[in-house]
Amino acid sequence: MRVELRGITKTFGSLVATDDVSLTVEPGEVHGLLGENGAGKSTLMNVLFGMLHADHGEILIDGEHATFRGPGDAVRLGIGMVHQHFMLVPVFSVTENVVLGSEPTRFGQLLDYRKARARIRDVSTQFGLDVDPDSLVEDLPVGIQQRVEILKALNRDAKALILDEPTAVLTPQETEALFAIMRSLTKSGRSVLFITHKLKEVLEIADRITVMRRGKVVGTTTPRESSEALLAEMMVGRSVNLVVAKTLAAPTDSVLQLHELRVIDDRNILTVDGVSLDVHAGEILAIAGVQGNGQTELVEAITGLRKPVGGTVVLDGVNVTGASPRAMLDRGLAHIPEDRQHDGLVLPMSVADNLVLDQHSSPVFASFGTRKLSAVREHASEMIEEFDIRTDSSQVPVQTLSGGNQQKVIVARELSRPIRLLVAAQPTRGLDIGSIEYVHRRIVAERDKGLAVLVVSSELDEVMALGDRIAVMYEGQIVGIVDPSVGREQIGLMMAGITPQSAATLESSAS
Ligand SMILES: Nc1ncnc2c1ncn2[C@@H]1O[C@H](COP(=O)(O)OP(=O)(O)O)[C@@H](O)[C@H]1O
Ligand SMILES: [Mg+2]
Repeated sequence: MRVELRGITKTFGSLVATDDVSLTVEPGEVHGLLGENGAGKSTLMNVLFGMLHADHGEILIDGEHATFRGPGDAVRLGIGMVHQHFMLVPVFSVTENVVLGSEPTRFGQLLDYRKARARIRDVSTQFGLDVDPDSLVEDLPVGIQQRVEILKALNRDAKALILDEPTAVLTPQETEALFAIMRSLTKSGRSVLFITHKLKEVLEIADRITVMRRGKVVGTTTPRESSEALLAEMMVGRSVNLVVAKTLAAPTDSVLQLHELRVIDDRNILTVDGVSLDVHAGEILAIAGVQGNGQTELVEAITGLRKPVGGTVVLDGVNVTGASPRAMLDRGLAHIPEDRQHDGLVLPMSVADNLVLDQHSSPVFASFGTRKLSAVREHASEMIEEFDIRTDSSQVPVQTLSGGNQQKVIVARELSRPIRLLVAAQPTRGLDIGSIEYVHRRIVAERDKGLAVLVVSSELDEVMALGDRIAVMYEGQIVGIVDPSVGREQIGLMMAGITPQSAATLESSAS
């Protein structure tokens, strides 16, 4: 099936979300749609899926004009979409979710559960979508829930499948698994519209790439004709520095020491199992690892959010094991949390208030219980300027800002008080390139000012770019601490629990 969008314009009030956008998806291709956050990708795809009505423009399916009054029309014509935020019913089983909303004629008025399960098994096998049809969706990890969404679209005979930022929630391994599924889909003649803002991914998987910027198509290219640098420039409209400029670290005193730290998670499982580390002033220690190997709990134990069950945390020579988050803050800890919307911000509150969240009662911003509004506003203006936060005003709720700008609010707040140690967890997850570049430069600048920095990231690129030393975490333990010069390959192996020593042992026992 050939899908053609011609001259699609969609406005929201005075904002032109997509501006005269044309795009053709050929049968059997992976078409990458690349653009920064806010470029208009989701809007365009929602038009194609019949969820939004364009102000102008037309859609052709196999050369025929198509009119979509709603997603039902798009589905009937063979278009499927997996949204950025999944639309599954958590308390239903995989089968129930897949079948939900399908045309009743296909399964008869009474849902034939057995037939549905059999069909799911067939489709699963055909495309390598390994899922247990009887699991409850709420029990499944995100990567598997995504497969359920894909199954659902395929069950409705989707010939063109839209995947909106599918890799944002996936580990590198899960991403590779998804790419394999995408390849098997195109092999069967289906086409995939793959939305992303990640350059490496689109270069790896797409046959053709269309780049959008501020609602317009900048151009269509192929991986062969382009490169990361070229695509970044098309996306952002200026040349982008993809490599973090960084001099050799000049570490001095030890600021943070972890000794045999042990932490259990919410399910009572020991997820941090004897971690010892040492972070010095003037260096960035980056912790690499596939998500879910104890990094989250490790950060929680350091920042006071979770009490360790064993071992010690020492900050500036003082034993702070089990200290409260407030006490850690007072001792000079800055924390960029993994889940910024949950732990880092109060979404309905204004940008200005979020910028002083930790300092509400400080004499600078309040006296005798009354808030000094002008001081709060003035502080906000300074931060907005210094940290390049893009917002119309400091008084709007922080939830109206893009992800990148929300993150800058956190970075601004955390770095604008006296600090000794910065703990940054997944600091650029979900951000656009421009914001990633900014946050990375800022972290290096703090190191150069003599801060001790601990970065935790499941993105190997980020770990490689930022780390002066790299500690690899696997199943709750640090499997090794290496210099970044050992290379991605070696660190990738360590992320799977394989150290040079254990590899050598395996070899000798094999021979
Ligand atoms: N329902 C909506 N109402 C108002 N503005 C919207 C709506 N949906 C998207 N926008 C705006 O349209 C622009 C494009 O958004 P979107 O299509 O989501 O971008 P992308 O998917 O590329 O990140 C953004 O400025 C966004 O704030
Ligand atoms: Mg989007």
